[in-house]
Amino acid sequence: MAQSSTSRSATRATPVPLLDLSRQYAFIREEVLAAIERVCSSQHYILGEEVEALERELAAFCGAAHAVGCASGTDALWLALSAVGVGPGDHVITTPLSFFASASAIVRAGGRPVFVDVDPHTLNLDPAQVEKGLRAGTSTHLRAVLPVHLYGQCADMDAFQRLADEFQLALVEDAAQAIGASWNKRRAGSMGLTAAFSFYPSKNLSAYGDAGIVTTNHSDFAERMRRLRSHGSPKRYLHEELGWNCRLDAIQGAVLRVKLPYVEKWNRQRRERATNYDRLLTQSGLTAATGDRPVRVLASEPRAHHVFHQYVIRVQRRDDLRQFLAERKIGTEVYYPIPLHRQPVFAYLGYREGDLPEAERAAREVLALPMFPELTDDEQQWVVESVAEFYS
Ligand SMILES: Cc1ncc(COP(=O)(O)O)c(C=O)c1O
Repeated sequence: MAQSSTSRSATRATPVPLLDLSRQYAFIREEVLAAIERVCSSQHYILGEEVEALERELAAFCGAAHAVGCASGTDALWLALSAVGVGPGDHVITTPLSFFASASAIVRAGGRPVFVDVDPHTLNLDPAQVEKGLRAGTSTHLRAVLPVHLYGQCADMDAFQRLADEFQLALVEDAAQAIGASWNKRRAGSMGLTAAFSFYPSKNLSAYGDAGIVTTNHSDFAERMRRLRSHGSPKRYLHEELGWNCRLDAIQGAVLRVKLPYVEKWNRQRRERATNYDRLLTQSGLTAATGDRPVRVLASEPRAHHVFHQYVIRVQRRDDLRQFLAERKIGTEVYYPIPLHRQPVFAYLGYREGDLPEAERAAREVLALPMFPELTDDEQQWVVESVAEFYS
């Protein structure tokens, strides 16, 4: 692992991006170009054999019976929620610390998001808080619960399953950031009634454009989603309900089929990079367990197999640190600076500052460091040295 000081100083002169997809492309270029050529030669661009094959392969990968390809993770969420029956007037519990689509898809399906606070250790939706709200009976019209597997770590699906059973709620996974992750040895995508994945280019399994998929063990939900993604049409020019056009295209399907066999390896490399960050941060003294240390590492739950879509730390003076790192051309990002209950578009829901304090605190403190399978030891060392220098 040790690298020479010559190579380390060479790295220092170069930027460390948050994500560098060109390194992955160099590795799979020939296979990807052959797959795209295969689609172009077939002249079959929407759904078809490539998408059907991806659906089979992805379902097997997740341990689910069915997968339904669609145009994005946002569409996948809308399909997943609609299929389990979320519609006008239905309330859906979800987390305030997620990408906007987790909540907007609820509204698109006709429902109303009910935000519940996050666990401060993992930043995933907190089942204890959800249970408290359910027992207090504060929300009527509850139809579903939508935990998000944030940053690649599954939410506590045992607890959510128990609550869903007791309170008769549909359990839907937002697995957009968690392909290959698992909870208690069950893969993301196999635990909820339906589960939505995104293949946005930055994801652990990523397309060359927008793409998504929904998994389910229920053939009736799968059938319904196949209709909904094609204008509610069971056969050409017959429309039984109002759907939408959110089909997956064959080029994305073919690219994803090239990449899927590598996901386990890439996730393993991400986990190694995360362990390396943990070690470097500890060695630097930035994260000592006691005292007022400037950096805190998020908890990895022992029951979770975390795939580190992001490596996120909580820090003091976050925005100044981010600026300092940017001046060194070290890429960082904030997931997410405004919790969903404080987004202007959701003002009508009536939440106020202070209603969900853990999510609000996290939004002020979180910082994602560079994370991708090909990140080098030297680059990580330079990132951590730079963080240490900022706080020295
Ligand atoms: C948690 C989460 N949900 C939903 C989405 C939406 O996916 P997409 O951007 O593919 O529409 C994303 C990704 O951006 C996400 O991170």
